[in-house]
Amino acid sequence: MNLGNKKRIVLADFSPAGSTRKIGIHLAGKLSAASGILWAHRPFTLPGQRTQALTFDENAWVILAMPVYAGRIPSLLLPYMAQMKGEGAKAFLLNTYGNRDYDDALREMEALSIHAGMTVVGGAAIVTRHVFSDVIAKGRPDEKDLQAIDRQIPRIYEAFLRGNPVTMPGNEELSYYKPTGEDGESVNMIQVKPSTKPGCIRCLQCVRSCPLGSIDEDDPTYVPGKCMKCCSCVLACPLKLKHFDDPGFLSHKKALEEKLVERREPEFFLPSV
Ligand SMILES: Cc1cc2nc3c(=O)[nH]c(=O)nc-3n(C[C@H](O)[C@H](O)[C@H](O)COP(=O)(O)O)c2cc1C
Ligand code: SF4
Ligand code: SF4
Repeated sequence: MNLGNKKRIVLADFSPAGSTRKIGIHLAGKLSAASGILWAHRPFTLPGQRTQALTFDENAWVILAMPVYAGRIPSLLLPYMAQMKGEGAKAFLLNTYGNRDYDDALREMEALSIHAGMTVVGGAAIVTRHVFSDVIAKGRPDEKDLQAIDRQIPRIYEAFLRGNPVTMPGNEELSYYKPTGEDGESVNMIQVKPSTKPGCIRCLQCVRSCPLGSIDEDDPTYVPGKCMKCCSCVLACPLKLKHFDDPGFLSHKKALEEKLVERREPEFFLPSV
């Protein structure tokens, strides 16, 4: 089939801690190699990358990639996602999650994509390390995960070529997962923000890494803006000063670490052959 020279694979990703981006780049690269279509990167993680709406056209094969936060996509991104313009593009939805569950996130991404005027041709839910913890899904995605993606590349290519809509898993009525602590009681983490140990050298790595631009440039130990608990600043600090010490957060993390020991495998949602 002649696809013309205008076709583009576009990886559009939100990835504060980098795992979603890693998988997205792997998938875009493999799909590009299989199809001979060039791919381009359109990240929307940082505030400066969200000054303009995500906009595609009918020549775009979009890989829309986002992590699950509390069973859906990050709530603070919803106003930005609602502005997305698909203009007849086809979309493959890539959802990453920390080995608990992806719940309604793919369904929400599907609704947003359809609202933007895109056709959803397939999707995947892939396990990554859970950013809250050093032990949950440690080392994921690993070689086995990437090989599982590679095996699906011909089907993903075929799905883009055919362009038929596919329904994503999840409930039509979207709901958020409610975190609980070790005692099973629900934990409210909305106001939780990272703390900073003494010794800040004002290198501003944390400031530059925050997807919400919430860390004070003059005093990076201070977080005046909203926090989505993405842990980007925790990972960015070269001195490992940023951390979460809220008792509710730590209790939820412990509860997750005790529960999430069984390995979940990548799942793909594609037209049946
Ligand atoms: C606020 C928050 C909520 C999360 N909620 C879930 C969840 O409901 N289920 C799950 O399996 N993982 C959950 N995770 C883990 C992330 O989905 C996972 O670590 C993902 O890889 C992060 O993507 P990134 O590395 O591209 O930033 C959550 C992470 C954060 C920060
Ligand atoms: S302050 Fe909150 S939102 Fe900003 S990078 Fe740190 S954890 Fe993420
Ligand atoms: S990354 Fe660490 S050392 Fe650098 S400004 Fe932030 S808290 Fe300070």
